[in-house]
Amino acid sequence: MSAPVVVIGSGVAGLSAALALAPLPVVLVTKTGALASGSTPWAQGGIAAALGAGDSPEMHLADTIAAGAGLTDPVVTSLLTRQGAVAVRDLIDRGLPFDRDGTGAPLLGREAAHSVDRIIHAQGDRTGRVVADWLAAAAQQADHITVLTDTLATDLVEADGRIAGVQIHGPEGWQVLPARAVVLASGGWGMVWRDTTNPAENTGDGLVMAARAGAMLADLEFMQFHPTALAVSDGSGARLPLLTEALRGAGAVLLDAAGTAFMAAEHPLADLAPRDVVARAVGQRIAAGEVVRLDLRPALKAKGVAGFPQVMEVCTAAGLDPWAEPVPITPAAHYAMGGVVTDPRGRTSRSGLWACGEVACTGVHGANRLASNSLLEGLVFARQVAADIRTTLSRPQVVSDTSLSAPVPVLVSPDTAAVQTVRAAMSQQAGLVRDAAGLTAAAAAIAAVPVRPLAADASSGAIRQAVESRNLLTIAGLITEAALRRRESRGAHWRRDYPEANPALARRLTQRLEEDGQS
Ligand code: FAD
Ligand code: SIN
Repeated sequence: MSAPVVVIGSGVAGLSAALALAPLPVVLVTKTGALASGSTPWAQGGIAAALGAGDSPEMHLADTIAAGAGLTDPVVTSLLTRQGAVAVRDLIDRGLPFDRDGTGAPLLGREAAHSVDRIIHAQGDRTGRVVADWLAAAAQQADHITVLTDTLATDLVEADGRIAGVQIHGPEGWQVLPARAVVLASGGWGMVWRDTTNPAENTGDGLVMAARAGAMLADLEFMQFHPTALAVSDGSGARLPLLTEALRGAGAVLLDAAGTAFMAAEHPLADLAPRDVVARAVGQRIAAGEVVRLDLRPALKAKGVAGFPQVMEVCTAAGLDPWAEPVPITPAAHYAMGGVVTDPRGRTSRSGLWACGEVACTGVHGANRLASNSLLEGLVFARQVAADIRTTLSRPQVVSDTSLSAPVPVLVSPDTAAVQTVRAAMSQQAGLVRDAAGLTAAAAAIAAVPVRPLAADASSGAIRQAVESRNLLTIAGLITEAALRRRESRGAHWRRDYPEANPALARRLTQRLEEDGQS
């Protein structure tokens, strides 16, 4: 199996990149059985884009910068908001079935910290599913794309000082896919925390692959906690269902244990304050022993249940009737602002390696992402990456080694119970509020996880579990290191021992992995 480009991941970023690379042959690798996977199909609120009358890319830029707590890169973000409107209009023109009003104009919703209604959506809160299925169907029909499902990418392979392929484990066993260009579109790492809205496959494999290959990383201390996951944990560590911010955009209200709306006292934008502010206000009350609830009724009355079919489904599945009473909520790890550092073309610090989507750190989210800017980022930077790869590959080939090989890795399997303990420690010590003592304790829990060698004839399932667990622990270590280093409070990174923002730290802090020799 060989193609000039290998794309790792089949969420919005990977699918969009693979499609935009046409007619270059692409191998699209994804570790799940279904092509539409990762966070993308779970996305609820929609895609932020300056489409409405009275809106503009400049207004969208200003809102994004205001939410980003001083770390947003204005130049790259301007590209996001300008090209974002173009990319979304293009999807509309190509027939993606977004919700429309009686005149055929796209219906636009409101989410936190947006100054106007700007969120385009599909089937109410099923936006991610509609977008993912539409892109996956297009990819399946595209002649230039070969799809490998159930295929785990484990490491990047180098030749001549550049990234020249990917090591994979799939139905054919271990293989190396040589490539002139590798695109990481492997999504985020919400599974590092016990309480998360992310699906099980979000273990940050791509981040660790890039880190192990020496790529530059940044902003890993900035993890966005969504304020309103449904508080229905069964203790298994599985994802918590999300209650979209579009509910608050349509009038839903957060209530404390006494049934009082509390957000107006916290921020002038009340329930629509930036996500980090709302999450901390909720988390503070829960830490003090309160149950915090969301009253969905104003939103359901305003938009009808057709506006929120997924929310209704998850409430019903949990035995809750949101028409009868407010439902319990909790903050949960949701979105990684940091990642593999990229330039506006999606190039990483390693030649031959590009990244887009949640795994990338483009600089557009700063310390706190504006709601619904991430599907947009995936769409825009997938196109940037594809355009740059097309230009790069039109030049004479530098690497001609198609028989690239790499040794089968010797894997160790971290103890699964101890990994769950680390996830709990990350939620408690590296969550909404941190301090040096807690972060140091979390780092110690990570270092103490016992590992045992994985048998040479281990099953695909055991290999995947070992690789994912290793990756979770590696990322947890990188995050505690980054969070200890940033001695200030800014956006999603809140230190009780350094409660103020430090103007001298209003900049990206980069990081590289120090390998300990274990594979
Ligand atoms: P993902 O969609 O996460 O896809 C990653 C892909 O990589 C998957 O296909 C996975 O299988 C594959 N992969 C990972 N590791 C490997 C490996 N080792 N080998 C092979 N394949 C691999 N954002 C918005 O803008 N609007 C919203 O309304 C919104 N709602 C959200 C709701 C929820 C519940 C969640 C969790 C997130 C939401 N977000 C939203 C965030 C947004 O969905 C994600 O940031 C975005 O979808 C990420 O897209 P991606 O393509 O980068 O990664
Ligand atoms: C939501 O619908 O609340 C999630 C939106 C996002 O994460 O951007």
